[in-house]
Amino acid sequence: MAKIAFLGAGMMGQPIARNFLRGGHSVKIYNRTLEKARPLEAHGAVLAATPKEAAAGADVIISSLTNDDASRFAWNGSEGVMQAVLKPGAYAIEMSTVSLAWVSELNELAKDRGLHFLDCPVAGRPDVAVSAQLKIFAGGSVEDVDAMRPVLDAISKSVMHVGGVGSGITFKLIYNVMGAIQVAACAEGMQACEAAGIDIAVAAEGFSTGATGSPHVIRHAGYMADNSHEDPVQFSGRMRIKDLSYGIQLIEDVGGQSVIGHAAKKVFEQMVELSMGDLNDSELIDTLRAVHAKDHA
Ligand SMILES: NC(=O)c1ccc[n+]([C@@H]2O[C@H](COP(=O)([O-])OP(=O)(O)OC[C@H]3O[C@@H](n4cnc5c(N)ncnc54)[C@H](OP(=O)(O)O)[C@@H]3O)[C@@H](O)[C@H]2O)c1
Repeated sequence: MAKIAFLGAGMMGQPIARNFLRGGHSVKIYNRTLEKARPLEAHGAVLAATPKEAAAGADVIISSLTNDDASRFAWNGSEGVMQAVLKPGAYAIEMSTVSLAWVSELNELAKDRGLHFLDCPVAGRPDVAVSAQLKIFAGGSVEDVDAMRPVLDAISKSVMHVGGVGSGITFKLIYNVMGAIQVAACAEGMQACEAAGIDIAVAAEGFSTGATGSPHVIRHAGYMADNSHEDPVQFSGRMRIKDLSYGIQLIEDVGGQSVIGHAAKKVFEQMVELSMGDLNDSELIDTLRAVHAKDHA
């Protein structure tokens, strides 16, 4: 069983850390707001005041944090992992959805400290994390991914080895651009049906049971039709913008174009403009309704 340092007790971090404990691993947990990590103490986690303290002597160091800034702070800040007395040959795993540029930089920092590095972003919302059914997109050497499978199995239903370091986050960002496009398309279609006088519940059923019915559309069309969005918020409009920004950058950096990605980003940015950016992504339909009402006032 591994000694795990886990950085981040957010909506994803809490259940992931809990499942590592259930799997028999020991967990030292750091969260910027220490109080949010406290519930994990009852399940056997030890709280750490800094990432440096959490990482000292750990076999595996894993982070699940909002974005590049948060990850940079935890790994490379003045009290970050890289300042710790590290176990030689320990594993460093970035599980957050961050940019490829930062993952590449972090890999170099980890190598300099003698760590094995893997990028292992996850797919699945917090409820999926609770049931240990996440999908993991792993980037790293075959040996490193195989060495970490017994640890990652405690939180996931599958570990897909995408390729070398950076390929996990590369795939995840492109995957999330596609996902965001589907949510935006669902909101647009649902709002258009409503504006055209079609019963929104009928529209949701049609989109969900037809060729349009991806898991994203099935889930979001249901929330949009019932006007009963997830509580607490599971994935906000602002998080969609974060993922789209990193994903579009990556697509353009490899010489592609992201015409539809930019369009989806634009509508999620309208959520922020209307002070709805911290609401669930499914509430994009309310933004589109507000824009429609304004345009037709
Ligand atoms: N939610 C989902 O459905 C989902 C699904 C798959 C992947 N993800 C990815 O998983 C990661 C975590 O998401 P989440 O849903 O758990 O988010 P969350 O609930 O908002 O938690 C964010 C975590 O990041 C920390 N944090 C934020 N800004 C920070 C900063 N500047 N310095 C240090 N710590 C900071 C927070 O600390 P505080 O508690 O102190 O604020 C908290 O631990 C993200 O990269 C997200 O894209 C999320």
